[in-house]
Amino acid sequence: MFNKFNIWKKADISSNLRDRMTEVMKQPIPSHIAIIMDGNGRWAKKRALPRIAGHHEGMKVVRKITKIANQLDVKVLTLYAFSTENWKRPKTEVEYLMKLPEEFLGTFLPELIEENVKVQMMGYKEGLPAHTTSAVDKAIRETKDNTGLILNFALNYGSRAEIIEAVKSVLNDCKSGILNGNEITEEVFAEYLMTKGLPDPDLLIRTSGEIRLSNFMLWQLAYTEFWFTDVLWPDFTENHLLEAIEVFQNRQRRFGGVQ
Ligand code: FPP
Repeated sequence: MFNKFNIWKKADISSNLRDRMTEVMKQPIPSHIAIIMDGNGRWAKKRALPRIAGHHEGMKVVRKITKIANQLDVKVLTLYAFSTENWKRPKTEVEYLMKLPEEFLGTFLPELIEENVKVQMMGYKEGLPAHTTSAVDKAIRETKDNTGLILNFALNYGSRAEIIEAVKSVLNDCKSGILNGNEITEEVFAEYLMTKGLPDPDLLIRTSGEIRLSNFMLWQLAYTEFWFTDVLWPDFTENHLLEAIEVFQNRQRRFGGVQ
Protein backbone atom coordinates (compact mmCIF):
# COMPACT_ATOMS: atom_id res chain seq x y z
CA MET A 1 0.00 0.00 0.00
CA PHE A 2 1.08 3.58 -0.64
CA ASN A 3 2.82 4.91 2.46
CA LYS A 4 3.14 8.66 2.55
CA PHE A 5 5.69 8.68 5.33
CA ASN A 6 8.19 6.77 3.17
CA ILE A 7 8.53 9.61 0.76
CA TRP A 8 9.60 12.16 3.36
CA LYS A 9 13.25 12.65 2.78
CA LYS A 10 14.80 12.90 6.25
CA ALA A 11 16.41 16.26 5.51
CA ASP A 12 13.00 17.73 4.66
CA ILE A 13 11.60 17.71 8.15
CA SER A 14 13.05 18.41 11.59
CA SER A 15 12.25 16.20 14.54
CA ASN A 16 10.56 19.16 16.31
CA LEU A 17 8.23 19.59 13.39
CA ARG A 18 7.52 15.88 13.21
CA ASP A 19 6.66 15.85 16.96
CA ARG A 20 4.36 18.82 16.58
CA MET A 21 2.66 17.16 13.59
CA THR A 22 2.14 14.00 15.60
CA GLU A 23 0.48 16.00 18.37
CA VAL A 24 -1.71 17.95 15.96
CA MET A 25 -2.81 14.74 14.26
CA LYS A 26 -4.27 13.45 17.53
CA GLN A 27 -7.17 15.88 17.06
CA PRO A 28 -9.45 16.45 14.06
CA ILE A 29 -7.62 17.97 11.12
CA PRO A 30 -9.53 20.43 8.92
CA SER A 31 -10.57 18.56 5.77
CA HIS A 32 -10.36 21.63 3.58
CA ILE A 33 -7.96 24.52 4.16
CA ALA A 34 -8.19 27.61 1.97
CA ILE A 35 -5.40 30.18 1.91
CA ILE A 36 -5.24 33.76 0.70
CA MET A 37 -1.50 34.00 0.11
CA ASP A 38 -0.84 37.69 0.63
CA GLY A 39 2.22 39.85 1.20
CA ASN A 40 4.60 38.80 -1.56
CA GLY A 41 5.03 42.38 -2.73
CA ARG A 42 5.78 43.71 0.77
CA TRP A 43 8.22 40.88 1.39
CA ALA A 44 10.14 41.90 -1.73
CA LYS A 45 9.94 45.62 -0.94
CA LYS A 46 11.45 45.06 2.51
CA ARG A 47 14.44 43.54 0.76
CA ALA A 48 14.60 46.17 -1.99
CA LEU A 49 13.77 43.47 -4.52
CA PRO A 50 11.30 43.64 -7.41
CA ARG A 51 7.77 42.44 -6.52
CA ILE A 52 8.19 39.38 -8.71
CA ALA A 53 10.96 38.16 -6.40
CA GLY A 54 8.31 37.98 -3.68
CA HIS A 55 6.03 35.93 -5.92
CA HIS A 56 8.88 33.57 -6.72
CA GLU A 57 9.61 33.07 -3.04
CA GLY A 58 5.88 32.60 -2.46
CA MET A 59 5.88 29.79 -4.99
CA LYS A 60 8.47 27.89 -2.94
CA VAL A 61 6.22 28.21 0.09
CA VAL A 62 3.39 26.63 -1.93
CA ARG A 63 5.55 23.54 -2.30
CA LYS A 64 6.35 23.36 1.43
CA ILE A 65 2.77 23.86 2.55
CA THR A 66 1.41 21.37 0.01
CA LYS A 67 3.79 18.71 1.31
CA ILE A 68 2.91 19.17 4.95
CA ALA A 69 -0.84 19.49 4.30
CA ASN A 70 -0.67 16.15 2.48
CA GLN A 71 1.26 14.61 5.36
CA LEU A 72 -1.33 15.86 7.81
CA ASP A 73 -4.07 14.17 5.82
CA VAL A 74 -5.76 17.42 4.83
CA LYS A 75 -8.11 16.46 1.99
CA VAL A 76 -8.23 19.74 0.06
CA LEU A 77 -5.89 22.73 -0.02
CA THR A 78 -7.27 25.67 -2.01
CA LEU A 79 -4.79 28.42 -2.79
CA TYR A 80 -5.79 31.85 -4.10
CA ALA A 81 -3.08 32.33 -6.72
CA PHE A 82 -4.69 34.93 -9.02
CA SER A 83 -7.99 36.76 -8.73
CA THR A 84 -10.18 38.20 -11.48
CA GLU A 85 -9.15 41.59 -10.04
CA ASN A 86 -5.40 40.91 -10.28
CA TRP A 87 -5.42 41.79 -14.00
CA LYS A 88 -5.27 45.44 -12.83
CA ARG A 89 -1.62 44.95 -11.82
CA PRO A 90 1.26 46.14 -14.02
CA LYS A 91 1.58 44.08 -17.20
CA THR A 92 5.01 42.73 -16.32
CA GLU A 93 3.79 41.50 -12.93
CA VAL A 94 0.72 39.84 -14.48
CA GLU A 95 2.93 38.16 -17.09
CA TYR A 96 5.18 36.87 -14.35
CA LEU A 97 2.28 35.57 -12.27
CA MET A 98 0.98 33.76 -15.35
CA LYS A 99 4.33 32.02 -15.72
CA LEU A 100 4.40 30.80 -12.11
CA PRO A 101 2.04 27.82 -12.49
CA GLU A 102 4.23 26.65 -15.38
CA GLU A 103 7.40 27.07 -13.39
CA PHE A 104 5.91 25.47 -10.28
CA LEU A 105 4.44 22.50 -12.11
CA GLY A 106 7.43 22.22 -14.47
CA THR A 107 9.66 21.81 -11.42
CA PHE A 108 7.47 20.03 -8.90
CA LEU A 109 4.95 17.96 -10.86
CA PRO A 110 7.06 14.77 -10.54
CA GLU A 111 7.19 15.35 -6.80
CA LEU A 112 3.42 15.94 -6.61
CA ILE A 113 2.85 12.72 -8.55
CA GLU A 114 5.21 10.83 -6.26
CA GLU A 115 3.34 12.20 -3.25
CA ASN A 116 -0.07 11.18 -4.62
CA VAL A 117 -1.30 14.82 -4.82
CA LYS A 118 -4.18 15.57 -7.19
CA VAL A 119 -4.02 18.96 -8.92
CA GLN A 120 -7.24 20.83 -9.69
CA MET A 121 -8.07 24.37 -10.71
CA MET A 122 -11.03 26.66 -10.21
CA GLY A 123 -11.41 29.92 -12.10
CA TYR A 124 -11.96 31.20 -15.62
CA LYS A 125 -9.65 29.34 -17.98
CA GLU A 126 -10.76 31.45 -20.96
CA GLY A 127 -8.93 34.52 -19.70
CA LEU A 128 -5.62 32.74 -19.10
CA PRO A 129 -2.74 32.52 -21.58
CA ALA A 130 -2.43 29.17 -23.39
CA HIS A 131 0.96 28.43 -21.80
CA THR A 132 -0.61 28.71 -18.34
CA THR A 133 -3.65 26.54 -19.07
CA SER A 134 -1.62 23.89 -20.85
CA ALA A 135 0.71 23.53 -17.83
CA VAL A 136 -2.27 23.30 -15.48
CA ASP A 137 -4.18 20.90 -17.77
CA LYS A 138 -1.15 18.64 -18.00
CA ALA A 139 -0.87 18.53 -14.20
CA ILE A 140 -4.60 17.85 -13.85
CA ARG A 141 -4.36 15.02 -16.42
CA GLU A 142 -1.29 13.44 -14.89
CA THR A 143 -2.60 13.50 -11.33
CA LYS A 144 -6.27 12.75 -11.99
CA ASP A 145 -6.15 9.28 -10.43
CA ASN A 146 -4.19 10.34 -7.35
CA THR A 147 -5.97 9.86 -4.06
CA GLY A 148 -4.01 12.11 -1.69
CA LEU A 149 -4.40 15.83 -1.09
CA ILE A 150 -6.38 17.79 -3.68
CA LEU A 151 -4.30 20.85 -4.48
CA ASN A 152 -6.89 23.26 -5.83
CA PHE A 153 -5.48 26.41 -7.45
CA ALA A 154 -7.82 29.38 -7.63
CA LEU A 155 -6.57 31.01 -10.82
CA ASN A 156 -8.42 33.88 -12.45
CA TYR A 157 -11.05 33.24 -9.81
CA GLY A 158 -13.64 35.65 -8.44
CA SER A 159 -16.44 34.59 -6.15
CA ARG A 160 -19.13 37.03 -7.23
CA ALA A 161 -18.66 36.08 -10.87
CA GLU A 162 -18.76 32.42 -9.84
CA ILE A 163 -22.10 32.95 -8.09
CA ILE A 164 -23.57 34.89 -11.03
CA GLU A 165 -22.50 32.13 -13.43
CA ALA A 166 -24.06 29.53 -11.13
CA VAL A 167 -27.35 31.47 -11.04
CA LYS A 168 -27.38 31.65 -14.85
CA SER A 169 -26.80 27.88 -15.11
CA VAL A 170 -29.54 27.21 -12.58
CA LEU A 171 -31.94 29.38 -14.65
CA ASN A 172 -30.98 27.58 -17.85
CA ASP A 173 -31.54 24.19 -16.26
CA CYS A 174 -34.91 25.34 -14.92
CA LYS A 175 -35.88 26.61 -18.39
CA SER A 176 -34.89 23.38 -20.05
CA GLY A 177 -36.70 21.31 -17.43
CA ILE A 178 -33.60 19.61 -15.99
CA LEU A 179 -34.26 21.33 -12.68
CA ASN A 180 -37.44 22.23 -10.87
CA GLY A 181 -37.25 25.65 -9.17
CA ASN A 182 -38.85 24.25 -6.01
CA GLU A 183 -36.06 21.73 -5.68
CA ILE A 184 -33.26 24.30 -5.40
CA THR A 185 -31.58 23.79 -2.05
CA GLU A 186 -28.20 24.94 -0.75
CA GLU A 187 -26.79 21.53 -1.69
CA VAL A 188 -28.20 21.73 -5.21
CA PHE A 189 -26.89 25.28 -5.69
CA ALA A 190 -23.44 24.27 -4.43
CA GLU A 191 -23.26 21.79 -7.29
CA TYR A 192 -23.29 24.72 -9.72
CA LEU A 193 -20.25 26.37 -8.14
CA MET A 194 -16.63 25.81 -9.13
CA THR A 195 -16.11 23.86 -5.92
CA LYS A 196 -18.62 21.20 -7.03
CA GLY A 197 -17.80 17.96 -5.28
CA LEU A 198 -15.48 19.54 -2.71
CA PRO A 199 -16.33 20.07 0.96
CA ASP A 200 -16.58 23.70 2.14
CA PRO A 201 -13.36 24.98 3.73
CA ASP A 202 -13.10 24.31 7.48
CA LEU A 203 -10.27 26.77 7.89
CA LEU A 204 -9.38 29.96 6.01
CA ILE A 205 -5.94 31.47 6.42
CA ARG A 206 -4.94 34.92 5.21
CA THR A 207 -1.40 36.13 5.58
CA SER A 208 0.13 39.61 5.71
CA GLY A 209 -2.22 41.27 8.22
CA GLU A 210 -5.06 42.09 5.82
CA ILE A 211 -8.44 41.22 7.32
CA ARG A 212 -10.73 40.82 4.32
CA LEU A 213 -11.96 38.18 1.89
CA SER A 214 -11.14 39.91 -1.41
CA ASN A 215 -13.92 38.15 -3.35
CA PHE A 216 -12.75 34.68 -2.30
CA MET A 217 -15.20 31.77 -1.85
CA LEU A 218 -18.00 33.95 -0.47
CA TRP A 219 -20.57 31.15 -0.54
CA GLN A 220 -18.25 28.39 0.61
CA LEU A 221 -16.86 30.27 3.63
CA ALA A 222 -20.24 30.69 5.35
CA TYR A 223 -19.27 28.54 8.38
CA THR A 224 -15.50 28.47 8.00
CA GLU A 225 -13.15 29.33 10.87
CA PHE A 226 -10.87 32.26 9.95
CA TRP A 227 -7.25 32.65 11.01
CA PHE A 228 -5.32 35.80 10.15
CA THR A 229 -1.62 36.34 10.62
CA ASP A 230 0.75 39.26 10.09
CA VAL A 231 3.32 36.89 8.59
CA LEU A 232 3.97 37.64 4.90
CA TRP A 233 3.34 34.66 2.61
CA PRO A 234 7.01 34.13 1.62
CA ASP A 235 7.83 33.87 5.36
CA PHE A 236 5.00 31.40 6.05
CA THR A 237 6.29 28.07 7.34
CA GLU A 238 5.03 24.61 8.25
CA ASN A 239 4.96 25.76 11.88
CA HIS A 240 2.59 28.61 10.99
CA LEU A 241 0.25 26.11 9.36
CA LEU A 242 0.39 23.92 12.45
CA GLU A 243 -0.32 26.97 14.63
CA ALA A 244 -3.40 27.77 12.53
CA ILE A 245 -4.61 24.18 12.83
CA GLU A 246 -4.03 24.20 16.59
CA VAL A 247 -6.14 27.35 16.90
CA PHE A 248 -8.80 25.70 14.74
CA GLN A 249 -8.79 22.65 16.99
CA ASN A 250 -9.46 24.86 20.00
CA ARG A 251 -12.42 26.62 18.42
CA GLN A 252 -15.98 25.48 19.06
CA ARG A 253 -17.84 25.19 15.79
CA ARG A 254 -21.56 25.50 16.37
CA PHE A 255 -22.81 26.03 12.78
CA GLY A 256 -25.49 28.38 14.15
CA GLY A 257 -26.62 25.98 16.87
CA VAL A 258 -25.78 25.84 20.59
CA GLN A 259 -23.38 23.63 22.46
C1 FPP B 1 -0.67 38.55 -3.13
O1 FPP B 1 0.45 39.24 -2.66
C2 FPP B 1 -0.24 37.44 -3.92
C3 FPP B 1 -0.62 37.18 -5.19
C4 FPP B 1 -1.58 38.00 -5.95
C5 FPP B 1 -0.07 36.06 -5.92
C6 FPP B 1 0.04 34.82 -5.12
C7 FPP B 1 0.90 33.88 -5.84
C8 FPP B 1 1.82 33.09 -5.25
C9 FPP B 1 2.04 33.01 -3.79
C10 FPP B 1 2.61 32.15 -6.02
C11 FPP B 1 1.69 31.21 -6.68
C12 FPP B 1 2.30 30.00 -6.99
C13 FPP B 1 1.78 29.11 -7.84
C14 FPP B 1 2.34 27.78 -7.80
C15 FPP B 1 0.72 29.42 -8.79
P1 FPP B 1 0.64 40.74 -3.11
O2 FPP B 1 1.42 40.76 -4.38
O3 FPP B 1 -0.68 41.42 -3.19
O4 FPP B 1 1.49 41.31 -1.93
P2 FPP B 1 1.41 42.79 -1.35
O5 FPP B 1 0.01 42.96 -0.80
O6 FPP B 1 2.45 42.76 -0.26
O7 FPP B 1 1.73 43.73 -2.44
